[in-house]
Amino acid sequence: VKLGCLISGRGSNLQALIDACATPDFPAEIGLVLSNKPGVQGLERAEKAGIPTQVIRHPDFPDRAAFDAALDAALRAAGVEIVCLAGFMRLLTPEFVTGWGDNILNIHPSLLPAFKGLDTHQRALESGARFAGCTVHIVRPAMDEGPILVQAAVPILDGDTEDSLAARILTAEHRAYPEAVRLLAESRVRVEGLRCHIDAPAD
Ligand code: GRF
Repeated sequence: VKLGCLISGRGSNLQALIDACATPDFPAEIGLVLSNKPGVQGLERAEKAGIPTQVIRHPDFPDRAAFDAALDAALRAAGVEIVCLAGFMRLLTPEFVTGWGDNILNIHPSLLPAFKGLDTHQRALESGARFAGCTVHIVRPAMDEGPILVQAAVPILDGDTEDSLAARILTAEHRAYPEAVRLLAESRVRVEGLRCHIDAPAD
């Protein structure tokens, strides 16, 4: 199954997917990495792994619809079947999102539905919650919403700062994203409203 990864920056989740795809029994490969920003670390990671990259700069387009149409065309031309948003910092139009059905994933650094949007680590700390975590979900038009595929919780510890909590969550993200991609690539996900039912692996 061919993946298309959309990034805007560091690309550590992209790296986790690159590493997973390099393991023998992983059911997916990355066909294209798209960035809306030139020169970012994620592009270097892809190039180092020999994965085709493309930069599609959003300021080069008159509106979101035109930008998203260019993304869509590039993904389809590359034969992509599952789109993975991995630190992609642009909101996508409903037309783009619905065009990929249940085959578009996002990773978010909170236990959704808590803390949608930005500054999740700071907000988790201020909330007084004892646990934080990450979520991989199927993308729907509303931001950080959609059927939840994989979640991982991490404790919030005394003395945690935004950075220490973010680092703990990021480690969990790097396990969660490949796990979610595996489930979808193995066609083990049945979506019912906001719920994902996961079938056992075929043997
Ligand atoms: C991650 O925390 C991810 O959950 C969020 O953006 C960050 C991207 O980090 N959506 P990276 O580019 O994958 O290192």
